Amino acid sequence: MSELYEKYAGDLRRARSEQRELRAAIPGFVAQLDDIEAEITYLLVREHRPETVLEIGSLHGWSTTWLLRALRDNGTGRLYTHDLVDKARANVPTDLADGRWTFVRGDARKTLANHRHKIDYLFVDAAHTRRFARWYVAELFPTVAPGVPVSVHDVFHSTRPWLFSEGRVVLSWLARRGIGYFTASRAASPALNRRLVELKASLRMDEQVHEGGHNPMLFFKMS
Ligand SMILES: C[S@@+](CC[C@H](N)C(=O)[O-])C[C@H]1O[C@@H](n2cnc3c(N)ncnc32)[C@H](O)[C@@H]1O
Repeated sequence: MSELYEKYAGDLRRARSEQRELRAAIPGFVAQLDDIEAEITYLLVREHRPETVLEIGSLHGWSTTWLLRALRDNGTGRLYTHDLVDKARANVPTDLADGRWTFVRGDARKTLANHRHKIDYLFVDAAHTRRFARWYVAELFPTVAPGVPVSVHDVFHSTRPWLFSEGRVVLSWLARRGIGYFTASRAASPALNRRLVELKASLRMDEQVHEGGHNPMLFFKMS
């Protein structure tokens, strides 16, 4: 991950400052992704150059705008966002959205039933329940090709996901298939978290964009 921070440092610095300005300009903007996990998401999208990114769970559009900035900086790719609530559309700047973003309102379990996307990046930050996770591991994951990067938020708030959580369902699914994963979570992966905090300081990216520091996102490659 350090190489990607270095490789895309200039663009990432710009994306960080745009995100900071966006949030400051919109009173009451609720943003969930912490900085390191949002930046890793940005970097993975830059590196993999997906044509189709699927996002489930945008809320006010924080992860959405991070993803869209990565697609803009790639100069290619489209984002499809599914959410029960239509709050992001008011916040996503037109120049980011135009020609690049489709918002679908509704329960992803219905709006994505029999979907026809060829998913090149999957981002999940929706209902953090076992039931929801059981749906997407059973119905959505099989539609994602091997090699595609996947991220799931709110898994590692502590060293292990909570017993009755979405995270446990996903980790069991990964374990059954022998699929590895990583996280930059401060609790679950403190050494990587510290390394990235230090690297960011050396790259002049230590000013916080978002105040959270847990970075509980799980990242893996479908196989
Ligand atoms: C934690 S928020 C997303 C935060 C956002 N990713 C961010 O970075 O700020 C979870 C979102 O998932 C949506 N959601 C929950 N269950 C859903 C479902 N079954 N289908 C679609 N969206 C759902 C909620 O409406 C909410 O906006």
